[in-house]
Amino acid sequence: MCGLEIPGDDHLLVGLAQADDAGVYQISEDLALIQTVDFFTPIVDDPYSFGQIAAANALSDVYAMGGVPKTAMNIVGFPIGELDISIFRQIIEGGLSKIKEAGVVLVGGHSVADKELKYGLSVTGFVHPKQILIKRRLRPGQKLILTKPLGIGIVNTAVKAGMTSPELSQRVSELMATLNKDAAEVMGNFPVSACTDVTGFGLLGHLAEMVVGSGCGAKIDSAALPLISEAVEFARMGLIPAGAYKNREFREDIIEIDPGVPRATVDILFDPQTSGGLLMVVDGAAADDLSRALAEKGVPCAAIIGSVLGGGEEKIRIN
Ligand code: CO
Ligand code: CO
Repeated sequence: MCGLEIPGDDHLLVGLAQADDAGVYQISEDLALIQTVDFFTPIVDDPYSFGQIAAANALSDVYAMGGVPKTAMNIVGFPIGELDISIFRQIIEGGLSKIKEAGVVLVGGHSVADKELKYGLSVTGFVHPKQILIKRRLRPGQKLILTKPLGIGIVNTAVKAGMTSPELSQRVSELMATLNKDAAEVMGNFPVSACTDVTGFGLLGHLAEMVVGSGCGAKIDSAALPLISEAVEFARMGLIPAGAYKNREFREDIIEIDPGVPRATVDILFDPQTSGGLLMVVDGAAADDLSRALAEKGVPCAAIIGSVLGGGEEKIRIN
């Protein structure tokens, strides 16, 4: 979108200029609309699971803005004549299962003939204008909490190479299909000032988006990171998706890594996640309580992985 002039509006609270998880448009004093769209090509073989994962991923950006998703529309590209139409149906059914779980209404959609299969959703949600969680609202001393373990991209690479057990593929499929709904509901009861969801740029790429422009830095405690244990093994074997290298190259200049941090951990920090967890920034004194409340709610993990640094240097340190 670089170089294009995009007209604004007094009611636009979050738009393209801020590069946040979703757009936000104010309707009244106490109501704003969140809008987002996301779709992709299959990342798992099973069509129903793919539908679930794509839907969970698309819904996630509304949760990451502090909002509640309300309506959704299907977006489908389908190779008619090449794939059986029952596959189309299974994908839609998988997506619908997650739309229902989210308490969202499916109001429509659009499908086109496409060489490559694609599925996703456009999602609309509500948020109070004073409760929008943008990325860059950081204060020194706050803590970072992550709600899904890292290494999803590496495991998916191993799945494609035929190197995983059916049990592991299944476990990671379920992790990707897990909605960030519960995590977002718990988050609403705590002094969280910023939030994003961890997806294609990896944990550090998304944390960098929070740090740059915030006036603060961040510190990651590598020993506290929740990692999918098999992903650590695959990373040690050098099974790293190409996206991880791109993510690293893009943000290298603001990241300082202690030489003692294991190489596999660093690789996982840049690993592109599909439908990853929420990365929350909470006041330091409330971090333990939020982590406990998330764990009680049964979210995949509730790890306090680091903190916000003062001093005005917009850098990320990994120890
Ligand atoms: Co996002
Ligand atoms: Co997105």
